[in-house]
Amino acid sequence: MKDELHINIPAMDEKHDEFLQILSLIKSCTSKQFLPLFSELIEHTREHFSFEEKLMDKYEFYAKTEHKEEHKNLLGEMEYFYAQAQKMPMFGKSYINDYAYDKFKRHVINIDSQFAMFLKERNIELQ
Ligand SMILES: [Fe+2]
Ligand SMILES: [Fe+2]
Repeated sequence: MKDELHINIPAMDEKHDEFLQILSLIKSCTSKQFLPLFSELIEHTREHFSFEEKLMDKYEFYAKTEHKEEHKNLLGEMEYFYAQAQKMPMFGKSYINDYAYDKFKRHVINIDSQFAMFLKERNIELQ
């Protein structure tokens, strides 16, 4: 994972790393593997977001409402493209190849890093 994507909260970096691994698998997979891997990416994202949301609730993060809203939008978008891809694989491929990485990167850099800073300022160590 590129340095700019590291937020130095190991448990969160780990989720981000896994996301990028699945994304890189999809980018080079066969057309038969495309939908199952896309679905795996969505499942992983659902789990990744709910992990962060539980932490935001637990530590009463001041921007949790906005952060959760952003999660909801990103997940909704992935589900929309997955549904489209079931009818027309091309739509799903263009999302995966042209948008998924940028959307992910923007979220990590602008939104997750804010939460990471909050945890660090409070010296909160995650298990
Ligand atoms: Fe995240
Ligand atoms: Fe997040």
